[in-house]
Amino acid sequence: MHQDIERILLTEAQIKDRINQLGKELTADYAGKEPVFVGVLKGVVVFYADMVRAFDDHCQMDFMWISSYHGTQSSGSICVKQDVKSDLRGRHVVILEDILDTGRSLQFVVQHLKDKGAASVRICTLLDKPEGRAPGIDLRADYVGFSIPNEFVVGYGLDYNEKYRNLPYVGILKPCVYEK
Ligand code: IMP
Ligand code: MG
Repeated sequence: MHQDIERILLTEAQIKDRINQLGKELTADYAGKEPVFVGVLKGVVVFYADMVRAFDDHCQMDFMWISSYHGTQSSGSICVKQDVKSDLRGRHVVILEDILDTGRSLQFVVQHLKDKGAASVRICTLLDKPEGRAPGIDLRADYVGFSIPNEFVVGYGLDYNEKYRNLPYVGILKPCVYEK
């Protein structure tokens, strides 16, 4: 698995430090609000587990499973495979996501959760590829772990064809792996 990685972009230590900082920010910003952290499956699972433990106050956890991405290309069409289970009316929602690329997935999820009556909906993403935004989508995350160049990355939850999610760091795949 590790031999397929060309370069480590973010080490375990860098990710851990940044998540601790984000945790402090969120804890201060959501004091007394008991936010609902909605994780977008499956890419977020590793980040989610670390992020909620860096949040040092009451919160609730929920998940959505959407499908939108195949191989290294965003397909553009999104469907809900599994919806959130909690009643979000009047709640402060923080969407946790692994990566913001074209913005199509999160634009959809934000609207979907607002339609459920959330009092506020904000985005916290581990990674942001600002250059990846699709034409006409002007979406910004409220909390960003790291802004990264427009390259395909894996690890720390992010996959290529369902592999590499369990790498403890974020790395760039050798092109030969997806040219196969
Ligand atoms: P968006 O809708 O294009 O913003 O895509 C967001 C989703 O695409 C993420 O939740 C990931 O599942 C996937 N994605 C985008 N870029 C990458 C990448 O570099 N590696 C792995 N998955 C990615
Ligand atoms: Mg994802």
